[in-house]
Amino acid sequence: MTPRKIIIDTDPGQDDALAILLALGSPELEVLGITCVAGNVPLPLTIRNARLVCELAGRRDMKIFAGCERPMVRDLVTAEIVHGETGLDGPDWDEPSMPVQDIHAVDWLVEVLMAADDGEITLCPVGPITNVAMAMVREPRIIPRIGQIVTMGGGYFVGGNTTPAAEFNVYVDPHAAAVMYRSGVPIVTMPLDVTHKALMSPEWIESVRTLGSDVGRKAAAMMSFYGRYDMKRYGERGGPLHDPATIAYLLEPGLYGGKDVFVEVETHSEITMGMTVVDYWHRLEREPNCHWISEVDSDGFYKLIRGRLMNLPAKS
Ligand code: BDR
Ligand code: CA
Repeated sequence: MTPRKIIIDTDPGQDDALAILLALGSPELEVLGITCVAGNVPLPLTIRNARLVCELAGRRDMKIFAGCERPMVRDLVTAEIVHGETGLDGPDWDEPSMPVQDIHAVDWLVEVLMAADDGEITLCPVGPITNVAMAMVREPRIIPRIGQIVTMGGGYFVGGNTTPAAEFNVYVDPHAAAVMYRSGVPIVTMPLDVTHKALMSPEWIESVRTLGSDVGRKAAAMMSFYGRYDMKRYGERGGPLHDPATIAYLLEPGLYGGKDVFVEVETHSEITMGMTVVDYWHRLEREPNCHWISEVDSDGFYKLIRGRLMNLPAKS
């Protein structure tokens, strides 16, 4: 089987780190590169963290690109309160030594998509959408070449996690998210509606810790640190593990259920800035622009992740 070609656009973040590890541990996927964006922490830290995760996975060969250091219009908002000062708090890390590519992430996205066949590449944005939207604005001819976008962001039934109305990734760069939803590319969205239905358990984290590898120990340390904020806020035994949902969907779409809907992003009103306005009941009779996921087999999701972590570090 030919592996599916994907690009992960990310702001690591512990849950981003798990998404990267899940992808790198899965032979069905070929990660062409990892493009970093400012989000959970400022850009220099998201680049550092992407390199740390690839080194942990034994993939020093991975191409890592530095992207946009701020959103398209608004000032950057970060989330150290969730992810810690480094964005990857939890384990002890050495500083990474693998290189960063010397071409800007937006330029590389344009270059690689223009060189690809139509539909060949799937994008997985799991941070603010800035890099992807900037690439679409800079070179609109890439738009029909993108096979699919599978993204984590937004919320409808459960509201927001950053403001009452807005989820973090869309809140940080709502204008970029609006560009993406208007692009016409087939989009699958993993919103809070689904990620909050698949919560980590202490037992699962422990089962990852005892995998017997550095990947397992560090992943568990990341999850323990990262879960504490959401457990306190939502009063649950574990927090949601957002970003790996995108990769899990590519690997096992049967774990998920959703609906084709029309989505727009609020970019005007401060009180609802970054809200994903989902026409779930087709009141506007607009052509759907997104497959909005709201159901998940939680046990299957966590089993999948643990199983794929066992494939790491990659053998060279
Ligand atoms: C999203 O925001 C970030 O904090 C996480 O990495 C995830 O991408 C969840 O709202
Ligand atoms: Ca993220």
